[in-house]
Amino acid sequence: MSDGIRVLRGARVALGVSGSIAAYKAVALASALHQAGAIVDVALTADAQRFVQPLSFQAITHRPVFSDLWAPGMETTAGGEGGHSIAHVTLGHESDVLVVAPATAHILAKLALGLADDPVSVTALAARCPLVVAPAMDAGMYNHPATAQNVATLRARGATVVEPEVGHLASGLSGLGRLADPERILDVVRGVLGRNGDLQGRSVTVTAGGTQEPIDPVRFITNRSSGKMGYAIAEAARDRGAAVTLITTPVALRRPAGLAGIIEVETAEQMLRALRDAYETADALIMAAAVADFRAASVADQKIKRGEGGLDLRLEPNPDLLRASADWPNHRGIVRVGFAAETRDLLANAAEKARRKTLDLVVANDVTASGAGFAVDTNAVTLLWPDGRQESLPVQPKTEVAEAVLDAVGVILRGRQPRMEAPSRPRTA
Ligand code: CTP
Repeated sequence: MSDGIRVLRGARVALGVSGSIAAYKAVALASALHQAGAIVDVALTADAQRFVQPLSFQAITHRPVFSDLWAPGMETTAGGEGGHSIAHVTLGHESDVLVVAPATAHILAKLALGLADDPVSVTALAARCPLVVAPAMDAGMYNHPATAQNVATLRARGATVVEPEVGHLASGLSGLGRLADPERILDVVRGVLGRNGDLQGRSVTVTAGGTQEPIDPVRFITNRSSGKMGYAIAEAARDRGAAVTLITTPVALRRPAGLAGIIEVETAEQMLRALRDAYETADALIMAAAVADFRAASVADQKIKRGEGGLDLRLEPNPDLLRASADWPNHRGIVRVGFAAETRDLLANAAEKARRKTLDLVVANDVTASGAGFAVDTNAVTLLWPDGRQESLPVQPKTEVAEAVLDAVGVILRGRQPRMEAPSRPRTA
């Protein structure tokens, strides 16, 4: 079992921190990147160091921190051959991505103009890798035409902008300017690192979570699905370059950034409609959602009162979305992957589902096995192909199961043309 996140494992990430009160959040970002397996080199402006000490980053990343352009010996801290390299050039050349977070109005202006007189701006000018900027400042400064133009310039040059959030600002005011959540920045960095991956140019639709079938305005029927498996697949597909559409039920998970689209649904009927739309462009459909097989035959307009006696609910079957999708006229060429959650006769039941739903791949799991199934972070699955091939995977994190499923999808896709130009992934997240 390997730790971390595949796209970040061993990736060289340069993290530039400028002088915003939000600089403390860059410590959390550095920590998350490091824990995910990245090699993180931090560059700090002098103003950033008024808020956070280099030592904080050094302790977290286990790497020297680039905090002074003129410090003796700095020329060798980032590695390079023979000690002749210069920290910012080495950092710029060796990094797979440069992330400036938080990016003040001032550093954005410098980057837009190509000024280079502090550890972050010199690294940016020397960098040959993609740039991600996460602005943080007062709302008035962010909305100022000068800043807007600088952001537009960076974007036009190919930078990815992690938009700030609306919220409480250091000025005491509330508005647009709060640094994006470190988890969101991490999502965007993952997507940027993986954008030339094996699913580049492909459009992948993933469904996740258990559907909710209403009984009355306050009650519904659902199941134990947490959505974790589907979300792990959506994130891993993004990290391989796919344009991902996630169709999700109201699960208690953070919505990932950097996807082509997220569609929120509650019922199987709504999921069916969302799927029909997604089918227009999808190259692959991965149906990780736990679709309720039954719904209330009639939904009460008003809350059903307790009353004296019991309550008889009449249920009617929901459509089988995977089965139905096989007959849609626009389905040709779509790789269709289903899950089979079973409590007994795992492989026989899964193979039967594959046949009934004419699937390209079935991911079978025994939800009663320990370390598998709902609400846990691990899963043990067997992959089944229509030609009878099988591959049993050990109990492993759902993030790794997601990678294995996508490995298999990638192989199937290799034999098929992209159905149409995949929707572009957002340059802004
Ligand atoms: N599925 C679907 N529509 C449904 C039920 C399930 O599209 N109404 C999909 C699931 O998302 C999953 C696959 O079909 O990818 C298998 O789901 P599962 O619940 O294991 O199978 P069912 O077809 O519901 O069969 P059963 O409940 O009899 O095991």
